Amino acid sequence: DASDIEKGTYPHYMLKEIDEQPLVMRKIIQTYQNEHGELTIDREIIDALNEADRLYIIAAGTSYHAGLVGKQFIEKMAKIPVEVHISSEFGYNMPLLSEKPLFIFISQSGETADSRAVLVNVKEMGYPTLTITNVPGSTLSREADFTLLLHAGPEIAVASTKAYTAQIAVLSILAEVTARSRGLKVGFDLVKELGIVANAMEVLCDSKELIEQIAREFLSVTRNCFFIGRGIDFYVGLEGALKLKEISYIQAEGFAGGELKHGTIALIEEGTPVIALATQESVNLSIRGNVKEVVARGANPCIISMKGLNHDEDSFVIPEVNELLTPLISVIPLQILAYYAALHRDCDVDKPRNLAKSVTVE
Ligand code: G6P
Repeated sequence: DASDIEKGTYPHYMLKEIDEQPLVMRKIIQTYQNEHGELTIDREIIDALNEADRLYIIAAGTSYHAGLVGKQFIEKMAKIPVEVHISSEFGYNMPLLSEKPLFIFISQSGETADSRAVLVNVKEMGYPTLTITNVPGSTLSREADFTLLLHAGPEIAVASTKAYTAQIAVLSILAEVTARSRGLKVGFDLVKELGIVANAMEVLCDSKELIEQIAREFLSVTRNCFFIGRGIDFYVGLEGALKLKEISYIQAEGFAGGELKHGTIALIEEGTPVIALATQESVNLSIRGNVKEVVARGANPCIISMKGLNHDEDSFVIPEVNELLTPLISVIPLQILAYYAALHRDCDVDKPRNLAKSVTVE
């Protein structure tokens, strides 16, 4: 049928979409560049960000996880404070807002009802709104003042992969262009760094066999799995856990490394898989300390580190990229791990039970 044709030689859309990520990265770099090779975004959007005293990112699911990474970019590069909220929570429990807020809606589909409810509400309150979406003409795009597109191409698998990395890439560009407009130096050439990311993504997409082995070793019989990280790695761990639970039904949770001892460590038993991310120099030793703590309680550790920070015991080493941009590549082995964990359990990878690609009811 038609869907088989679109999948080409791939057994699942998810795998196809994972593999499309290097291409999407290059497409984004190209689309957001001007004739001088500089990254550029509509002046109106940048002005709106500069007029705001605080940005509120509103999103659900995977898009929320991309928002957490985006907050780091915007705060570190453009020095504008950012709050990230789950749309359904924000809708019913609005925090005290700053004087001049700007709302950024992140949504692959542009149709998520929980996010739309917030958009309608804050528009009524008279606040400026920007939607970052993959779907031109979607409801959230039409109804917001401004739109930035992801250019990721249609995403069919329910579990989001290429939209997540596209969201993060577009957020990095938004942060860089805003920083430049404020006369701030980000200290690196983002076009070049995103190019390095695209190449690293390719290397990772070619490492599926090794990651499949890791899935077999760590995830084939377990009923649960924990992801730990610190800082930006913590946010990627949340996304890795979401991918795994969505499609393999393994109970998976992401935790901040330092928070383990305040409760979660009670769940560690003999053989519990703990996947630790180590891509940040400043917390490399402390996350490894957390791994030792869980290993002492019987955990089966799988450390995914970045080249340059790797130790002998690590299960997988990702290529080196700019420290801020690591989520774009550290998530890929986690996506592939989830894919194989689901496949080995005979789960319906592209259409997991109980889930919908876009949730248009509140
Ligand atoms: C659904 C999907 C998730 C997605 C979330 C937000 O729950 O199953 O994969 O992350 O909606 O969707 P959006 O289109 O707003 O990014």
